Amino acid sequence: MKTMEDVFEHTLQDIYYAENALTKAIPKAAEAASNKDLKSGLEEHLLETKEQIKILKQVFKSIGKEAKGEKCDAIEGLIKETEGIIEEARTQKARDIALIGACQAIEHYEISRYGTLREWAKVLGHDEAHDMLTQILDMEKAANSKLTNLAVTEANKK
Ligand SMILES: [Fe+2]
Ligand SMILES: [Fe+2]
Repeated sequence: MKTMEDVFEHTLQDIYYAENALTKAIPKAAEAASNKDLKSGLEEHLLETKEQIKILKQVFKSIGKEAKGEKCDAIEGLIKETEGIIEEARTQKARDIALIGACQAIEHYEISRYGTLREWAKVLGHDEAHDMLTQILDMEKAANSKLTNLAVTEANKK
């Protein structure tokens, strides 16, 4: 990488890889969840994630690049940790709250990436990409807020 444009494209490939990896990881988390709001929330976020992949394809197109993924070590680690939690929890209630925490770590990672990417897009004059990345950022923030609400109003108390 030499230029901001290079860094932008590389990071876009990184999050594209991450979203694709999440389409395989989220169903496993949804299956492991016993709290029905957590389960349905994860199922809903899987649909949103598939939508985000479509939007990312449009982002690549808008900058005249081909959509492709670059292995993202961070998401691999976060997914591995989530799978470990599913294995290690000995009660459903423990598994649910641990899963909420792990899923929030993933949402925070995504929020960080999309926040950075959209600001770079703005500076680079990729206005269309900026708007699309903001749209995804808002979806990730909403998903994180739902998890916070579920934790503080219900799951943690149980
Ligand atoms: Fe996402
Ligand atoms: Fe997400």
